Amino acid sequence: MPTDWTPAALSDDIPAASAAPGQLGPHDLAIWRSASGRIAAWADRCPHRGMRLSHGYVRGERLSCIYHGWGYGEGGQCVRIPAHPELTPPEAIKVPVFRAVEASGVIWVAVEAPEAPPPEFPGFEAFRSLQVKAAPEALAGALGGSGLVVEAALGGATVVALIQPLRDGAVGLHLLAPEALGAAELDALSVAAEALRRRVEEGVTA
Ligand code: FES
Repeated sequence: MPTDWTPAALSDDIPAASAAPGQLGPHDLAIWRSASGRIAAWADRCPHRGMRLSHGYVRGERLSCIYHGWGYGEGGQCVRIPAHPELTPPEAIKVPVFRAVEASGVIWVAVEAPEAPPPEFPGFEAFRSLQVKAAPEALAGALGGSGLVVEAALGGATVVALIQPLRDGAVGLHLLAPEALGAAELDALSVAAEALRRRVEEGVTA
């Protein structure tokens, strides 16, 4: 892959004012989007007692922990502790923040900012993500390619497949479809993607 960016989710899967769990190598992520549309990827661990921030809720530009309501603003800084509303939280109370940008309808994450921006795929749009219980090489091979970005024929269309290594023997498969596809073609692509997942999980790659 000609970049250190990792595809972690599709933009449409994280609508405004929502949060979801994700992964980046060994790191658990809370991927969230503010009410104004700003995307962020933070460590999925509340500095208070370690609960998952991906279970939290978004109000405006702030992600709050579901457990005791501590609120975190831009840069991961704690900005509100409901039990002590008069207190300005110390600067040290901060969530570790990862890089997150969007390109081609995909949310890309990285530990440090890579030199190059994430890849763009003109003519394609984000379609859907699946999780597959397989090694990245097995999935790439089943798509007729190698590496973590594969252009493949699937369900009668040419697609871009972004493969995200996950822990526990799984991968994320983020599919980009040609922009011009109609509903029936997208349905066929969905069916083909699910059939591919079954084949790969059963170890049948031919
Ligand atoms: S664990 Fe998050 S606010 Fe208490």
